[in-house]
Amino acid sequence: MADLAEVVAAIAARGAEATDRGRVADYIPELAKVSAGHFGIAVVTAAGAEHVAGDADTPFSIQSVSKVFALVEALCRHGEGVWDRVGREPSGSAFNSIIQLELEQGRPRNPFINAGAIAVSDLIAASCEPGAAIGAILARVRALAGDDSIAVDAAVAWSEAVTGYRNAALANYMRSFGTIAGPVDATLSVYFQQCAIAMSCRQLARAGRFLAAGGVQDGVVIVSPERARRINALMLTCGHYDASGDFAFRVGLPAKSGVGGGILAIAPGRASIAVWSPGLSPQGNSLLGTAALEQLAQAMGWSVF
Ligand code: DON
Repeated sequence: MADLAEVVAAIAARGAEATDRGRVADYIPELAKVSAGHFGIAVVTAAGAEHVAGDADTPFSIQSVSKVFALVEALCRHGEGVWDRVGREPSGSAFNSIIQLELEQGRPRNPFINAGAIAVSDLIAASCEPGAAIGAILARVRALAGDDSIAVDAAVAWSEAVTGYRNAALANYMRSFGTIAGPVDATLSVYFQQCAIAMSCRQLARAGRFLAAGGVQDGVVIVSPERARRINALMLTCGHYDASGDFAFRVGLPAKSGVGGGILAIAPGRASIAVWSPGLSPQGNSLLGTAALEQLAQAMGWSVF
């Protein structure tokens, strides 16, 4: 069996040197300011041991990785009722696509595409006092990471809010079908802020550890083992949008990407892994982050297949 610390260090060295680094997202202007030169990795084992390398302690915009924590929050508040609003099928479409919404009566395919995540934000808002939903999501993330310093990057949230025409279209369209019940502006505000949460690889890997440990973190039941399995199943099948099949083929782990260049991956029973490299593939997933996870899964024999 390969030595995990050595594998992590070798992956970070390759990540720092790589020349083809993908393209940093620029449709959210604030994200375009981030250098493509960063590379970080953190592996937190199910038992809590940590191995980090590169820019593992530099905060970045977690963007769609937040959709995992929002889903957990919604499931804890609404139970299986979440699935009355959102499906559990891969979309095979881009993260911000609208086409299936018209064909499928305003019901998003899954909670990880933008439409599904906006519907999940709306569900959380429905069970909170006005204005408290982002606080609930943030509190969840802080508790899971064991770090109260984690915060929303207000500049990123604002940058997305003033350019988020597609998300506004998705939200308004879903509101017309009743998939969203609350005020569209309030729902979008929750969604933009959750995407703008800034975390480091170390914080993110810590926050995902319960998914590698049957739903339990430091003796506290976060979700049942069955729910942890199901969230992992959704991450595997839907976590990389129209690249989910290729990610499963190459890496073989449940994982969720974000356009900030972060990926949270779960090796069930073994570890929670966070990688960050801001340059993206054409589908909007971290190019070097994916390569790093492929190397890690291969070296450690962690693919679930
Ligand atoms: O809604 C958006 O477009 C972004 N806040 C999040 C998209 C995203 O991270 C897609 N993931 N790869």
